[in-house]
Amino acid sequence: MSTTNRPLVIGNWKMNLDFVESVHLAQQIGVMLKVKPTEHADVVLVPPFVDIRSVTSVVTSERVPVAVGAQHVNAHDNGAHTGEVSTSMLKRLGVEWVLVGHSERRSMYAMNDAVVAATLRASTKSTLHAVLCVGEDGLVRDDADQEAFVEAQLESALHGLDESLRPLVTVAYEPIWAIGTGVTATLEEVSAMTNFIRRVLTRFSMPASRVLYGGSVNAENAASLMGEGGVDGFLVGGASLKAESFLAIVRAANDCYAGKR
Ligand code: PGA
Repeated sequence: MSTTNRPLVIGNWKMNLDFVESVHLAQQIGVMLKVKPTEHADVVLVPPFVDIRSVTSVVTSERVPVAVGAQHVNAHDNGAHTGEVSTSMLKRLGVEWVLVGHSERRSMYAMNDAVVAATLRASTKSTLHAVLCVGEDGLVRDDADQEAFVEAQLESALHGLDESLRPLVTVAYEPIWAIGTGVTATLEEVSAMTNFIRRVLTRFSMPASRVLYGGSVNAENAASLMGEGGVDGFLVGGASLKAESFLAIVRAANDCYAGKR
């Protein structure tokens, strides 16, 4: 099962790059996209909160063909939530995308399934495009329980989400054991899980939602992950911190889609 969705490549900068470095990277990406456009792929840059304003300024003033996202958002509208930001604050900055339930948020910042579901609801209600991150750790994979695990994550996040908001959801499969480790899931593992996720999404009337892969994606493995892994794009961490390696991934996705059309 594969789709003909237009690819989406997201650069998650995590807690890297201060605002000066962020501006520099966004400008470099802008220049390189102008020299060699990739009109068959959607690109989203996801800087740390404190860099967002600077990055959206570069994107707007230099007409860089990318959207800007945030790495997290709080599900509440406002109030006593020290250290958090709201959907309306992000929207005011020109943010169009948000990552929801990245495994680092889940494991390090107590983001349980209920919080993920509430965050997904709040994000989509405010018309932000949400990237729902799911994926098992190494122990679950060792026990061959990854499908049940990911299914439970998807069901808990999507259950109760208004049908009209579901088109705003993209799913990113990110096996925790592949994140930042240099170990990429095999093409068979990626393709099996992507197909499985698509079947679950069909039950939620979301057969056309994009399914991304994340976990040590780089310029070398991107083309085969798209072609044989059957994903609709990537959520990229480490390799998104340099314009060359990030755009090589964007180009791989772009060319793969262009070749299919
Ligand atoms: P990585 O991170 O590409 O550095 O493995 C992916 C992610 O966490 O989104």
